[in-house]
Parts: sequence; structure tokens; C-alpha cells
Amino acid sequence: MRYDLLAGAAQPAVSSIVMRPPCILVFDSGVGGLTVHEEIARARPDARFVYAADDAAFPYGALGEDALRGRVMAVMERLIARFSPDLVVVACNTASTIVLPALRARFAIPFVGTVPAVKAAAAASASRIIAVLATPGTVARDYTRELINSFASDCEVALVGSTRLASLAEAHLRGEPVDDAAIAAEIAPCFIERRRGDGRVARTDVISLSCTHYPLLRARFEALAPWPVRFIDPAPAIARRVGQLLGPAMSHGAGGTAHAVFTSGRGVTQRLRAAFSARGFSGLEAQEEALALN
Ligand code: DGL
Repeated sequence: MRYDLLAGAAQPAVSSIVMRPPCILVFDSGVGGLTVHEEIARARPDARFVYAADDAAFPYGALGEDALRGRVMAVMERLIARFSPDLVVVACNTASTIVLPALRARFAIPFVGTVPAVKAAAAASASRIIAVLATPGTVARDYTRELINSFASDCEVALVGSTRLASLAEAHLRGEPVDDAAIAAEIAPCFIERRRGDGRVARTDVISLSCTHYPLLRARFEALAPWPVRFIDPAPAIARRVGQLLGPAMSHGAGGTAHAVFTSGRGVTQRLRAAFSARGFSGLEAQEEALALN
């Protein structure tokens, strides 16, 4: 089934009904959604943000489709009841590629999803060799394969499902040491080299960062890449879509106040708190909200 993930076009823009600065819920399995939050906060500095990390179920990339769908629906039920957001950004490719239709059927508010930027990657490639670097879950989705068939059928596509990068990105954000060798091994399958019929060598020239955790490691990827490539981060496109749905920022905003919820109920460490503050969570009110399920 083909459904509209990023656009949310079937849903009305909410600018006409929200006459106050909006409340935007940004949702991910962990801290990866911060890369998306950062862009949205730039576009809507007036908004009130709730950042929800379902860290009790991290990593989503390891969950089966039914388990993940059930989990996200249950967590979202609680979050929406508690925070009444005007719009939800599912800042997670692994969840968006499977659960958006069910979320939109269940809740009346707009959902903006995050999906692999295959179209943009193919459009930017001169060599016609691209890579989609994602979680094992996203790589396995029919939706991802459909994107490739629709937008990159004339490219060789390395579809790379990393089992470790999301955890390495979590560690990196917390300021813990992350080995170059570990990162290099995870990105290595993205780099393909082919000798063409005319003797020229063609290489991967664009990599779609198709997990919101991965842009956290972008500088490390750039330093470790065996040759320079362009990395595509979908966050700016998501922020633009949020802007279309909510309209321009208001002058009497909440000033970017942000509240963070972690479903595990584990304590928020000093390092994590610092990382959130550094990413625009001024007046961060980090709060652990245990959302253990079953
Ligand atoms: N950040 C998530 C994504 O965009 C997934 C990380 C995980 O929980 O495996 O896919």
C-alpha cells in the first residue's frame, strides 16, 4: 500500500484553528529526533515543544512490524492524552514507515512523518550509485523498497541496515567515547565502487541518512568516509512541512520552551541534560515518565 508519509496532505493545515503558539510533539525511540527538533525549532521559535523518547523500547530498529505498531500506538495514546499537541512529528524513519496510517486513522491531529530521502538522494547523484543508511527495520520495509523503485530505479542503491549506529549515536550525544573503527565498519557497506564499460570508475556519491540518529554522527561520517560523499538529512524538509501545516511563527510565542519525556523512567543524567540544553531546550524541563507497557 502506498501512503503519504511526509506530506500529511490529506489533513487540513491547522493554522486556521490554532490562534495561539502551537504545541508540537516530537517523537522518537531515543535522542535521534533531536536532529529534527532542532530544525523545527528554528522554523517555529514560538512553539511549545514536547520531546518524547520511547527509550524503554529502544532500539525500534530491532522490533518486528506488529510489535512496533502496537508499541507506538500505545505510547502515542498516552502522550496525546497528556499533552494535547496540535501536531505530532514522528521523527523516526523506523516507526514512520510502518505506523503512520494507523496513527492518522486513530487521531484527528496532523502527523508529519520521516521517511528515507531516496528521491532527494537520487536527484543529487551524478554517479547513479547511492546508499540508504538506515536501521534494519527501515531497510526491511516494503515502503522503503517502493521508494527506491519509484525514485531511484536507474541507480544502484546500497540499502544498508546498521544494527549499531543508533546506539553509537546515543553514546556520542551523551559525550561517551565512540570508536572510529566501530563507526567506519557500520558505514563501509555504503561505499561502492564500480568500473563502467568505458573503463571509468563510478562510486557512491550520495548517502541518505535514513535514521534520525545518524545526523548526530555526521561529522564523524565525513571524517571516516573513504571518499567524499554528500549526506542527505531529511530534517529541513520535515521542518518545512511543519511550517506549511502550522503557518508562520507568531510574535507572542512560548519562546521555544521544551519539555522532554523519557518512557523508561530512568534518571536523566547530567550529560543528557547538557546535550538537550545545547540543542535549544532552553528552560529544559526534563522529566521521566514511565510508560512501561504490558
Ligand atoms: N531514530 C530512529 C529512526 O529514525 C530509529 C532508531 C532505533 O530506535 O532503532 O529510524
